[in-house]
Amino acid sequence: MEHFNIAVIAGDGVGPEVIEEGKKVFSGISRIDGNFSVSFTDFPWGCEYYLKTGEMMPADGMDLLRGFDAVYLGAVGYPGVPDHISLGGLLLRIRRGFDEYINLRPIRLLKGAPCPLADVRPEDVNMIVVRENSEGEYANVGARLYSDTEREVAFQTAVFSRHGCERVIRYAFELARHEKRSLTSISKGNALRYSMVFWDEVFAEIGQEYPDVETHSLLVDAASMFFVKDPKRFEIVVTSNLFGDILTDLGAAIAGGMGLAAGANLNPERKYPSMFEPIHGSAPDIAGKGIANPLASIWSVSQMLEFLGEREWSQRLLSAIEILLMERRILTADLGGSAKTADIGAAVLEILGR
Ligand code: NAD
Ligand code: IPM
Ligand code: MN
Repeated sequence: MEHFNIAVIAGDGVGPEVIEEGKKVFSGISRIDGNFSVSFTDFPWGCEYYLKTGEMMPADGMDLLRGFDAVYLGAVGYPGVPDHISLGGLLLRIRRGFDEYINLRPIRLLKGAPCPLADVRPEDVNMIVVRENSEGEYANVGARLYSDTEREVAFQTAVFSRHGCERVIRYAFELARHEKRSLTSISKGNALRYSMVFWDEVFAEIGQEYPDVETHSLLVDAASMFFVKDPKRFEIVVTSNLFGDILTDLGAAIAGGMGLAAGANLNPERKYPSMFEPIHGSAPDIAGKGIANPLASIWSVSQMLEFLGEREWSQRLLSAIEILLMERRILTADLGGSAKTADIGAAVLEILGR
Protein backbone atom coordinates (compact mmCIF):
# COMPACT_ATOMS: atom_id res chain seq x y z
CA MET A 1 0.00 0.00 0.00
CA GLU A 2 1.31 3.44 -0.85
CA HIS A 3 1.98 5.68 2.12
CA PHE A 4 2.37 9.46 2.19
CA ASN A 5 4.37 11.16 4.93
CA ILE A 6 3.27 14.74 5.30
CA ALA A 7 5.00 17.38 7.40
CA VAL A 8 2.52 19.82 8.87
CA ILE A 9 3.37 23.37 9.91
CA ALA A 10 0.01 24.74 11.01
CA GLY A 11 1.62 28.03 12.02
CA ASP A 12 -0.14 31.11 13.32
CA GLY A 13 -3.61 32.61 13.70
CA VAL A 14 -6.21 30.75 11.67
CA GLY A 15 -3.49 28.42 10.34
CA PRO A 16 -4.12 25.58 12.84
CA GLU A 17 -7.91 25.98 12.50
CA VAL A 18 -7.96 25.54 8.72
CA ILE A 19 -5.20 22.92 8.58
CA GLU A 20 -7.15 20.67 10.95
CA GLU A 21 -9.95 20.46 8.38
CA GLY A 22 -7.51 19.73 5.55
CA LYS A 23 -5.98 16.89 7.54
CA LYS A 24 -9.44 15.47 8.27
CA VAL A 25 -10.25 15.48 4.58
CA PHE A 26 -6.95 13.92 3.49
CA SER A 27 -7.22 11.14 6.12
CA GLY A 28 -10.88 10.58 5.27
CA ILE A 29 -10.05 10.19 1.58
CA SER A 30 -7.35 7.65 2.35
CA ARG A 31 -9.90 5.63 4.38
CA ILE A 32 -12.50 5.77 1.59
CA ASP A 33 -9.91 4.81 -1.01
CA GLY A 34 -8.27 2.03 0.99
CA ASN A 35 -5.28 1.81 -1.35
CA PHE A 36 -3.13 4.47 0.21
CA SER A 37 -2.51 5.77 3.69
CA VAL A 38 -1.29 9.06 5.06
CA SER A 39 0.40 10.18 8.23
CA PHE A 40 1.01 13.68 9.50
CA THR A 41 3.94 14.89 11.57
CA ASP A 42 3.24 18.21 13.26
CA PHE A 43 5.93 20.83 13.70
CA PRO A 44 4.94 23.53 16.20
CA TRP A 45 6.84 26.30 14.45
CA GLY A 46 5.65 29.87 14.09
CA CYS A 47 5.37 33.09 16.05
CA GLU A 48 4.63 31.49 19.45
CA TYR A 49 7.63 29.25 18.95
CA TYR A 50 9.67 32.34 18.12
CA LEU A 51 8.60 34.14 21.27
CA LYS A 52 9.74 31.13 23.31
CA THR A 53 12.95 30.24 21.47
CA GLY A 54 14.05 33.30 19.50
CA GLU A 55 13.75 31.47 16.17
CA MET A 56 10.89 30.58 13.84
CA MET A 57 12.15 27.02 13.36
CA PRO A 58 15.07 25.17 14.90
CA ALA A 59 18.49 25.37 13.27
CA ASP A 60 18.09 21.87 11.79
CA GLY A 61 14.48 22.58 10.72
CA MET A 62 15.13 22.20 7.00
CA ASP A 63 16.84 18.84 7.59
CA LEU A 64 13.83 17.67 9.59
CA LEU A 65 11.52 18.46 6.65
CA ARG A 66 13.71 17.11 3.87
CA GLY A 67 12.57 13.50 3.94
CA PHE A 68 8.81 14.16 3.75
CA ASP A 69 6.67 13.64 0.66
CA ALA A 70 5.21 17.12 1.06
CA VAL A 71 4.86 20.00 3.50
CA TYR A 72 1.37 21.22 4.41
CA LEU A 73 1.41 24.76 5.79
CA GLY A 74 -1.28 26.93 7.37
CA ALA A 75 -0.15 30.53 7.75
CA VAL A 76 2.77 32.41 9.20
CA GLY A 77 2.93 35.84 10.82
CA TYR A 78 1.18 37.41 13.78
CA PRO A 79 1.10 40.79 15.52
CA GLY A 80 3.91 40.85 18.07
CA VAL A 81 6.58 39.47 15.75
CA PRO A 82 7.73 41.66 12.85
CA ASP A 83 6.60 40.15 9.54
CA HIS A 84 10.04 40.22 7.96
CA ILE A 85 11.31 38.04 10.80
CA SER A 86 8.42 35.56 10.86
CA LEU A 87 8.05 35.17 7.11
CA GLY A 88 11.77 35.31 6.36
CA GLY A 89 12.47 32.72 9.06
CA LEU A 90 9.87 30.16 8.01
CA LEU A 91 7.72 30.47 4.88
CA LEU A 92 10.25 32.22 2.63
CA ARG A 93 13.06 30.16 4.07
CA ILE A 94 11.34 26.95 3.04
CA ARG A 95 10.38 28.25 -0.43
CA ARG A 96 13.98 29.29 -1.08
CA GLY A 97 15.73 26.47 0.74
CA PHE A 98 13.79 23.76 -1.09
CA ASP A 99 14.05 25.63 -4.39
CA GLU A 100 10.26 25.70 -4.75
CA TYR A 101 10.54 27.99 -7.71
CA ILE A 102 7.03 27.47 -9.06
CA ASN A 103 4.09 28.92 -7.18
CA LEU A 104 1.01 27.46 -8.83
CA ARG A 105 -2.15 29.36 -7.95
CA PRO A 106 -5.43 28.41 -9.61
CA ILE A 107 -7.86 31.31 -9.90
CA ARG A 108 -11.09 29.56 -10.59
CA LEU A 109 -14.62 30.63 -9.77
CA LEU A 110 -16.21 27.41 -8.60
CA LYS A 111 -19.92 26.97 -9.15
CA GLY A 112 -21.74 28.34 -6.12
CA ALA A 113 -18.92 30.67 -5.06
CA PRO A 114 -19.75 34.37 -4.82
CA CYS A 115 -18.23 36.73 -7.37
CA PRO A 116 -18.19 40.50 -6.82
CA LEU A 117 -18.17 41.15 -10.57
CA ALA A 118 -21.41 41.64 -12.47
CA ASP A 119 -22.44 39.18 -15.19
CA VAL A 120 -19.52 36.84 -14.64
CA ARG A 121 -20.04 33.08 -14.89
CA PRO A 122 -17.75 30.37 -13.49
CA GLU A 123 -16.34 29.65 -16.95
CA ASP A 124 -15.23 33.30 -17.21
CA VAL A 125 -12.82 33.05 -14.28
CA ASN A 126 -10.65 30.01 -14.84
CA MET A 127 -6.94 30.62 -14.96
CA ILE A 128 -3.77 29.24 -13.45
CA VAL A 129 -1.19 31.75 -12.30
CA VAL A 130 2.39 30.49 -12.46
CA ARG A 131 4.22 32.81 -10.08
CA GLU A 132 8.01 32.89 -9.99
CA ASN A 133 8.78 31.88 -6.41
CA SER A 134 12.51 32.03 -5.79
CA GLU A 135 13.97 35.36 -6.84
CA GLY A 136 12.80 38.55 -8.59
CA GLU A 137 11.63 41.25 -6.22
CA TYR A 138 11.87 38.76 -3.32
CA ALA A 139 15.62 38.17 -3.72
CA ASN A 140 17.04 38.85 -0.32
CA VAL A 141 19.34 41.58 -1.56
CA GLY A 142 19.43 45.11 -0.25
CA ALA A 143 20.79 47.49 2.30
CA ARG A 144 19.91 50.30 4.64
CA LEU A 145 22.51 53.03 4.74
CA TYR A 146 23.16 56.25 6.60
CA SER A 147 20.47 55.42 9.10
CA ASP A 148 21.59 58.03 11.58
CA THR A 149 21.34 60.84 9.08
CA GLU A 150 18.69 62.73 7.20
CA ARG A 151 20.04 61.13 4.03
CA GLU A 152 18.92 57.67 5.07
CA VAL A 153 18.56 55.29 2.08
CA ALA A 154 17.03 51.85 1.65
CA PHE A 155 17.79 49.60 -1.33
CA GLN A 156 15.87 46.48 -2.29
CA THR A 157 17.35 44.88 -5.36
CA ALA A 158 15.31 42.64 -7.63
CA VAL A 159 17.24 39.75 -9.13
CA PHE A 160 16.19 38.23 -12.44
CA SER A 161 18.65 35.52 -13.49
CA ARG A 162 18.50 33.83 -16.89
CA HIS A 163 18.28 30.48 -15.13
CA GLY A 164 15.46 31.72 -12.88
CA CYS A 165 13.42 33.31 -15.65
CA GLU A 166 13.90 30.50 -18.13
CA ARG A 167 12.80 27.74 -15.80
CA VAL A 168 9.55 29.38 -14.67
CA ILE A 169 8.65 30.56 -18.17
CA ARG A 170 9.41 27.13 -19.63
CA TYR A 171 7.25 25.52 -16.94
CA ALA A 172 4.39 27.83 -17.92
CA PHE A 173 4.79 27.06 -21.63
CA GLU A 174 4.77 23.32 -20.91
CA LEU A 175 1.61 23.74 -18.84
CA ALA A 176 -0.07 25.81 -21.56
CA ARG A 177 0.89 23.25 -24.23
CA HIS A 178 -0.34 20.37 -22.08
CA GLU A 179 -3.63 22.10 -21.28
CA LYS A 180 -4.01 23.50 -24.81
CA ARG A 181 -4.57 26.97 -23.41
CA SER A 182 -3.08 30.39 -24.11
CA LEU A 183 -0.25 31.84 -22.07
CA THR A 184 -0.10 35.46 -20.88
CA SER A 185 3.11 36.94 -19.52
CA ILE A 186 2.59 39.86 -17.13
CA SER A 187 5.50 42.26 -16.64
CA LYS A 188 6.39 45.94 -16.61
CA GLY A 189 9.06 46.59 -19.22
CA ASN A 190 7.95 50.16 -19.84
CA ALA A 191 9.25 51.28 -16.46
CA LEU A 192 11.63 48.55 -15.27
CA ARG A 193 14.08 48.61 -18.11
CA TYR A 194 16.52 46.01 -16.80
CA SER A 195 14.59 43.32 -14.99
CA MET A 196 11.33 43.35 -16.93
CA VAL A 197 12.76 43.99 -20.38
CA PHE A 198 14.96 40.97 -19.73
CA TRP A 199 11.91 38.95 -18.62
CA ASP A 200 10.08 39.93 -21.81
CA GLU A 201 13.05 38.90 -23.95
CA VAL A 202 13.30 35.51 -22.27
CA PHE A 203 9.55 35.04 -22.72
CA ALA A 204 9.86 35.78 -26.45
CA GLU A 205 12.91 33.52 -26.84
CA ILE A 206 11.32 30.52 -25.15
CA GLY A 207 8.11 31.17 -27.06
CA GLN A 208 10.02 30.31 -30.26
CA GLU A 209 10.16 26.72 -29.04
CA TYR A 210 6.38 26.59 -28.56
CA PRO A 211 4.81 27.72 -31.85
CA ASP A 212 1.65 25.81 -30.89
CA VAL A 213 1.02 27.98 -27.79
CA GLU A 214 -0.89 31.24 -28.25
CA THR A 215 0.89 33.96 -26.29
CA HIS A 216 0.06 37.42 -24.97
CA SER A 217 2.09 39.97 -23.04
CA LEU A 218 0.53 42.54 -20.75
CA LEU A 219 1.82 45.29 -18.51
CA VAL A 220 0.89 44.58 -14.91
CA ASP A 221 -1.19 47.73 -14.46
CA ALA A 222 -3.33 46.94 -17.49
CA ALA A 223 -3.47 43.28 -16.48
CA SER A 224 -4.92 44.26 -13.08
CA MET A 225 -7.63 46.18 -14.85
CA PHE A 226 -8.41 43.23 -17.14
CA PHE A 227 -8.56 40.82 -14.16
CA VAL A 228 -11.62 42.83 -13.11
CA LYS A 229 -13.07 43.93 -16.44
CA ASP A 230 -12.44 40.82 -18.55
CA PRO A 231 -11.03 37.90 -16.55
CA LYS A 232 -11.87 35.36 -19.24
CA ARG A 233 -8.99 36.56 -21.39
CA PHE A 234 -6.59 34.85 -18.93
CA GLU A 235 -5.91 31.12 -19.17
CA ILE A 236 -2.35 30.34 -18.09
CA VAL A 237 -0.51 33.35 -16.64
CA VAL A 238 3.21 33.62 -15.91
CA THR A 239 4.59 36.48 -13.87
CA SER A 240 7.24 37.60 -11.42
CA ASN A 241 7.26 36.93 -7.71
CA LEU A 242 5.81 40.24 -6.48
CA PHE A 243 3.37 40.75 -9.33
CA GLY A 244 2.18 37.18 -8.82
CA ASP A 245 1.66 37.81 -5.12
CA ILE A 246 -0.48 40.87 -5.73
CA LEU A 247 -2.39 39.53 -8.72
CA THR A 248 -3.37 36.34 -6.90
CA ASP A 249 -5.00 38.22 -4.02
CA LEU A 250 -6.89 40.16 -6.69
CA GLY A 251 -7.63 36.83 -8.34
CA ALA A 252 -8.84 35.41 -5.03
CA ALA A 253 -11.21 38.35 -4.67
CA ILE A 254 -12.86 37.67 -8.04
CA ALA A 255 -13.06 33.93 -7.36
CA GLY A 256 -14.91 33.88 -4.04
CA GLY A 257 -12.46 35.46 -1.61
CA MET A 258 -9.35 34.63 0.40
CA GLY A 259 -11.10 31.69 2.01
CA LEU A 260 -11.12 29.87 -1.32
CA ALA A 261 -7.65 30.49 -2.77
CA ALA A 262 -5.02 27.74 -2.72
CA GLY A 263 -1.42 27.59 -3.79
CA ALA A 264 1.30 25.01 -4.39
CA ASN A 265 4.99 25.80 -3.99
CA LEU A 266 6.62 23.28 -6.26
CA ASN A 267 10.12 21.97 -6.72
CA PRO A 268 9.22 20.26 -10.00
CA GLU A 269 12.40 18.16 -10.05
CA ARG A 270 11.32 16.63 -6.73
CA LYS A 271 14.79 17.02 -5.35
CA TYR A 272 13.20 18.62 -2.28
CA PRO A 273 9.68 18.47 -0.82
CA SER A 274 7.05 20.78 -2.27
CA MET A 275 4.79 22.81 0.01
CA PHE A 276 1.02 23.28 -0.15
CA GLU A 277 -0.87 26.10 1.55
CA PRO A 278 -3.83 28.41 1.36
CA ILE A 279 -2.61 31.74 -0.04
CA HIS A 280 -4.21 33.76 2.74
CA GLY A 281 -2.40 34.77 5.90
CA SER A 282 -3.06 34.20 9.59
CA ALA A 283 -6.13 36.47 9.54
CA PRO A 284 -5.62 37.93 13.06
CA ASP A 285 -8.98 39.71 12.80
CA ILE A 286 -10.89 36.41 12.93
CA ALA A 287 -8.35 34.04 14.53
CA GLY A 288 -9.52 31.98 17.49
CA LYS A 289 -13.20 32.36 16.69
CA GLY A 290 -13.56 29.13 14.73
CA ILE A 291 -15.09 30.93 11.74
CA ALA A 292 -12.25 30.93 9.18
CA ASN A 293 -13.05 29.30 5.89
CA PRO A 294 -10.93 26.14 5.51
CA LEU A 295 -11.82 25.55 1.85
CA ALA A 296 -8.59 27.17 0.63
CA SER A 297 -6.56 24.78 2.72
CA ILE A 298 -8.79 21.88 1.63
CA TRP A 299 -8.26 22.93 -2.00
CA SER A 300 -4.52 22.83 -1.34
CA VAL A 301 -4.99 19.21 -0.25
CA SER A 302 -6.43 18.65 -3.73
CA GLN A 303 -3.28 20.16 -5.20
CA MET A 304 -1.19 17.94 -2.92
CA LEU A 305 -3.10 14.83 -4.02
CA GLU A 306 -2.44 15.68 -7.66
CA PHE A 307 1.25 16.20 -6.96
CA LEU A 308 1.40 12.86 -5.11
CA GLY A 309 -0.10 11.07 -8.11
CA GLU A 310 -3.68 10.77 -6.82
CA ARG A 311 -5.05 12.74 -9.74
CA GLU A 312 -8.54 11.28 -9.61
CA TRP A 313 -8.97 12.13 -5.92
CA SER A 314 -7.66 15.58 -6.59
CA GLN A 315 -10.47 16.13 -9.12
CA ARG A 316 -13.10 14.50 -6.93
CA LEU A 317 -12.16 16.69 -4.01
CA LEU A 318 -12.53 19.84 -6.09
CA SER A 319 -15.91 18.63 -7.31
CA ALA A 320 -16.93 17.96 -3.71
CA ILE A 321 -16.04 21.55 -2.78
CA GLU A 322 -18.19 22.69 -5.69
CA ILE A 323 -21.12 20.55 -4.52
CA LEU A 324 -20.72 21.94 -1.00
CA LEU A 325 -20.87 25.49 -2.36
CA MET A 326 -23.64 24.89 -4.82
CA GLU A 327 -26.01 22.36 -3.23
CA ARG A 328 -25.23 21.78 0.42
CA ARG A 329 -24.55 25.41 1.23
CA ILE A 330 -22.72 24.60 4.48
CA LEU A 331 -20.77 27.85 4.40
CA THR A 332 -18.61 29.94 6.71
CA ALA A 333 -19.32 33.61 7.39
CA ASP A 334 -17.10 34.96 4.60
CA LEU A 335 -19.39 33.15 2.14
CA GLY A 336 -22.53 34.38 3.83
CA GLY A 337 -23.20 31.31 5.98
CA SER A 338 -23.09 30.53 9.67
CA ALA A 339 -21.14 27.26 9.64
CA LYS A 340 -18.02 26.91 11.74
CA THR A 341 -14.58 26.03 10.45
CA ALA A 342 -14.86 22.65 12.17
CA ASP A 343 -18.09 21.77 10.29
CA ILE A 344 -16.53 21.96 6.85
CA GLY A 345 -14.16 18.99 6.74
CA ALA A 346 -16.91 16.54 7.72
CA ALA A 347 -19.31 18.09 5.21
CA VAL A 348 -16.78 17.66 2.39
CA LEU A 349 -16.13 14.06 3.44
CA GLU A 350 -19.82 13.29 3.58
CA ILE A 351 -20.13 14.42 -0.05
CA LEU A 352 -17.08 12.36 -1.06
CA GLY A 353 -18.33 9.26 0.67
CA ARG A 354 -21.82 9.11 -0.81
P1 NAD B 1 -4.79 37.74 5.55
O1 NAD B 1 -4.83 36.92 4.30
O2 NAD B 1 -4.40 37.03 6.79
O3 NAD B 1 -6.19 38.44 5.79
C1 NAD B 1 -6.78 39.34 4.86
C2 NAD B 1 -8.30 39.34 5.04
O4 NAD B 1 -8.83 38.12 4.55
C3 NAD B 1 -8.73 39.45 6.51
O5 NAD B 1 -9.88 40.24 6.61
C4 NAD B 1 -9.06 38.01 6.89
O6 NAD B 1 -10.03 37.87 7.90
C5 NAD B 1 -9.56 37.45 5.55
N1 NAD B 1 -9.27 36.01 5.49
C6 NAD B 1 -8.06 35.44 5.29
N2 NAD B 1 -8.17 34.12 5.32
C7 NAD B 1 -9.45 33.83 5.54
C8 NAD B 1 -10.18 32.61 5.69
N3 NAD B 1 -9.58 31.41 5.60
N4 NAD B 1 -11.51 32.67 5.91
C9 NAD B 1 -12.12 33.86 5.99
N5 NAD B 1 -11.50 35.04 5.85
C10 NAD B 1 -10.17 35.03 5.64
O7 NAD B 1 -3.78 38.95 5.24
P2 NAD B 1 -3.15 40.03 6.23
O8 NAD B 1 -4.15 40.44 7.25
O9 NAD B 1 -2.55 41.03 5.36
O10 NAD B 1 -1.96 39.27 6.95
C11 NAD B 1 -2.01 38.76 8.29
C12 NAD B 1 -0.67 38.10 8.61
O11 NAD B 1 -0.47 36.95 7.79
C13 NAD B 1 0.54 39.01 8.36
O12 NAD B 1 1.47 38.70 9.36
C14 NAD B 1 1.04 38.57 7.01
O13 NAD B 1 2.41 38.83 6.79
C15 NAD B 1 0.77 37.07 7.07
N6 NAD B 1 0.59 36.39 5.77
C16 NAD B 1 1.05 35.11 5.72
C17 NAD B 1 0.85 34.36 4.59
C18 NAD B 1 1.32 32.94 4.54
O14 NAD B 1 1.71 32.40 5.56
N7 NAD B 1 1.30 32.27 3.43
C19 NAD B 1 0.14 34.90 3.50
C20 NAD B 1 -0.33 36.22 3.60
C21 NAD B 1 -0.11 36.96 4.76
C1 IPM C 1 1.77 34.81 -0.05
C2 IPM C 1 2.20 35.76 1.05
C3 IPM C 1 3.70 35.81 1.19
C4 IPM C 1 4.29 36.27 -0.14
C5 IPM C 1 4.19 36.73 2.32
C6 IPM C 1 3.51 36.39 3.60
C7 IPM C 1 5.67 36.76 2.45
O1 IPM C 1 1.65 37.03 0.83
O2 IPM C 1 2.13 33.62 0.03
O3 IPM C 1 1.07 35.24 -0.95
O4 IPM C 1 4.37 37.49 -0.38
O5 IPM C 1 4.65 35.42 -0.94
MN1 MN D 1 0.24 37.10 -0.78
